[in-house]
Amino acid sequence: MTQTLTIRRPDDWHLHLRDGDMLRAVLPHTTAHFARAIIMPNLVPPVVTGDDARAYRDRIVAALPKGAEFTPLMTLYLTENTDPKDVAAAHAEGLVHAVKLYPAGATTNSASGVADFDKVAPVLEKMAEIGLPLCTHGEVTDADVDIFDREAVFIDRVLDPIRRGHPDLKVVMEHITTANAVDYVRSADTNLAATITTHHLVINRNHILVGGIKPHYYCLPVAKREEHRLALRAAATSGDARFFLGTDSAPHTDANKLLPCGCAGCFTAPNTMSILAEVFEQDGALDQLEAFASLNGPRYYGLPANEDTLTLVREAPEFPSHIDTPDGPVTVFDPIIPLNWTA
Ligand code: NCD
Ligand code: ZN
Repeated sequence: MTQTLTIRRPDDWHLHLRDGDMLRAVLPHTTAHFARAIIMPNLVPPVVTGDDARAYRDRIVAALPKGAEFTPLMTLYLTENTDPKDVAAAHAEGLVHAVKLYPAGATTNSASGVADFDKVAPVLEKMAEIGLPLCTHGEVTDADVDIFDREAVFIDRVLDPIRRGHPDLKVVMEHITTANAVDYVRSADTNLAATITTHHLVINRNHILVGGIKPHYYCLPVAKREEHRLALRAAATSGDARFFLGTDSAPHTDANKLLPCGCAGCFTAPNTMSILAEVFEQDGALDQLEAFASLNGPRYYGLPANEDTLTLVREAPEFPSHIDTPDGPVTVFDPIIPLNWTA
């Protein structure tokens, strides 16, 4: 039986680092394993301009643990007022690697997101021209659409029209949760890829709701039926270059999770690589972990894979149930399954 597994150092193509004390508390859990991450811009206020992104990048770099080698890949939060020239300049200086589309009101801190998609057409046009990817939070927010259907409806109503209108635009469907999204990605030969989170490979909606409500499994997009989880696992472990890791590790304090109206997000940064090794081994696909976590993402983003490596050892890892932060404890995602790999 394989006792160690060495892969190119992985990257996280969808990560929430927050700011201030929380940033300092969670960042070491990512830099312990990952060389780069696409940093989500949903701060309050959001990271909208090149200047915002530069300042946020500098705060992340200043918060790096001693000796850590980590490159934050910054993103801009798309609003109806985003200036295409500012986006192009931030891309040209090597600062910004994607623009993030949040439908207004879809998730945590998305109030400044897009309501009228026609208004952002000039930005999308510019992005297509310069090869800058659009990352989508793929859920509609219409009150009449069931929350479990919001991803599938987004594909039909929003994403497909955008892609037809801008065929040269590179799109990343973020944190996909449905077989519909897997099929949609597979149907496209170019300019479409998807990130998959660690937690969506492990939980389905029963984990959130059966036997009492489990706020720490509540995230957006919300986990779906088991058949969807299985479709995600098949996609992630297949080696198909269009699917890669974006943990969507999204820390919230327990005080903010355990409320009558609690925040969405799972904090998976500490144990993501151990969980992924377990998932891939269960599916007989340990040999595809490197493609999913380390190779497919940089290839789609037009960046070289990392030169250095990460070695996982077959040894039961130990993780705290939560980490302490000056803002209060943050619960670490509990994958329920026993873990056998230490990263
Ligand atoms: C994210 C957050 O907390 O910022 N929450 C989540 O459930 N994933 C926002 C997001 O990515 O939707
Ligand atoms: Zn996210």
